[in-house]
Amino acid sequence: MATDYYNIFLLWERPVIVFALLVFPLGVAVLYPIYWGRRREMYPPCRGWIPWLGCAVQFGKAPLDFIEESRRKLGPVFTLKVAGKRLTFVTEPEDFDCFFGSDCVDFQKAVQLPVRNTASISEESFFETHQNVHDTIKGELAPPRLQKLCAKLNVKFAQQLTKWGKVGRSDLMSLVRRSMYVSILDTLFGEHVLPTSNQEAYLEFEAHFVRYDDQFEHGTELPEIFLREWSRSKKWLLRLFAAVVNTEEKQTRLDETLLHAIIKTVDRPHAPNYALLMVWAALANAIPITFWVLVFIYSDQTILAELMEELEQVIGGRGKDLTDLHITQDDLQKLPKLKWCVLEAVRLRGAGVITRQVTRSFTLRGYTIPSGDMLMLSPYWAHRNERVFPDANCFLPSRWENADLSKNQFLKGFLSFGGGRYQCPGRWFGLMEIQLFVAMVIYKYNITMMGPVPDVVSTCF
Ligand code: HEM
Repeated sequence: MATDYYNIFLLWERPVIVFALLVFPLGVAVLYPIYWGRRREMYPPCRGWIPWLGCAVQFGKAPLDFIEESRRKLGPVFTLKVAGKRLTFVTEPEDFDCFFGSDCVDFQKAVQLPVRNTASISEESFFETHQNVHDTIKGELAPPRLQKLCAKLNVKFAQQLTKWGKVGRSDLMSLVRRSMYVSILDTLFGEHVLPTSNQEAYLEFEAHFVRYDDQFEHGTELPEIFLREWSRSKKWLLRLFAAVVNTEEKQTRLDETLLHAIIKTVDRPHAPNYALLMVWAALANAIPITFWVLVFIYSDQTILAELMEELEQVIGGRGKDLTDLHITQDDLQKLPKLKWCVLEAVRLRGAGVITRQVTRSFTLRGYTIPSGDMLMLSPYWAHRNERVFPDANCFLPSRWENADLSKNQFLKGFLSFGGGRYQCPGRWFGLMEIQLFVAMVIYKYNITMMGPVPDVVSTCF
């Protein structure tokens, strides 16, 4: 007994053992809950518990509705796990500067894989060339160049609109698409560089391009084996663009276009691929938005009458033939009400979602957004925030009266062209072509809508 007591006494004499027995467990007891408490708070609330699949099925059915439902359930910053990816959404205007300006997020890394999947551009070529391609498009379509491009488009639109005939009944989207495709392709690529003059060849191009565009969103993600028809159209288009680049390289042209500038900027083997992407970017948003501007205008007789009055003041009475209708870029500047209509349609029917990749983790609203997440912003929902756009769901062109358009400034909170270093480089050209086309249509045609204004489909991203 005496020996046992002696041994225990000796243990208490050793400070290291005292620390191990008393201080360390005490420290752990105090710090552990704080540490784990913080860890629980660290990441944004999340949906998608099924391994790998996450919430891909619900998200895939109606992405825009699912985003809004998740925001209501989870709060202003949340993560959706979708097919092995973490998509972290920011939804409050106060956080958008971080989306566009933070050096912890990257545009190029976010789009490189989609670019590879949709246009077969290698990772190496993309990172080497992307910035130059962006700057070339931005320079070629900058406001000082619009005068000349507007004059070209005016002639092209007149030729195409004449084909609508005097009286008829047709699907508006098909009419708009055909007239604009041909005119824009001839303007950005050169006269008949793409098959725009031969009816049969053009129809084949249109069919492939429409399919490529319709399934583009899926093409960014899914292996081509699941998208056989889309893949066939993509290959058909790439072969066409390869032939076009081949021919154009051998010719000296006086009227060089955006296509020629792109060919000079990129590495030769990928020139057709960049050309295809450029055409897609130029047509994918502008054509549906032109359709919507016309739908909104012809659905509201008061707005239509105001636009007619504005138009007649600038280009005269309604009697002129389309081919005598010379509307310049300066004329378009004198049609503010028309520009408001275009911008209001872009606000309501612009991009569903834009994306960046998080390259370095950062903190937002107390949450850690980890490196590797895709950071997501939905202009569609941002434009339906009543705090920023009162009566957000209504088509109200007059709200644009508050924007200083003479200084090329949009309304605060308007995000349809993205933002930051890689904001849409074609935006001024896009606005000009839509304004010009709509001006010519309403000047020349009385259109009666055969049904109510269609709803936005939540599947469009
Ligand atoms: C109303 C029409 C248009 C809308 C709503 C629109 C919208 C957008 C948006 C949201 C982006 C992504 C920007 C970001 O993530 O910050 C974008 C990128 C782009 N847009 Fe547009 N766009 C339009 C017309 C055009 C036109 C007419 C062209 C060219 C001829 C064009 C060329 C591009 C290109 C090349 C990019 C990719 C930029 C890059 O990779 O750096 N867009 N556009």
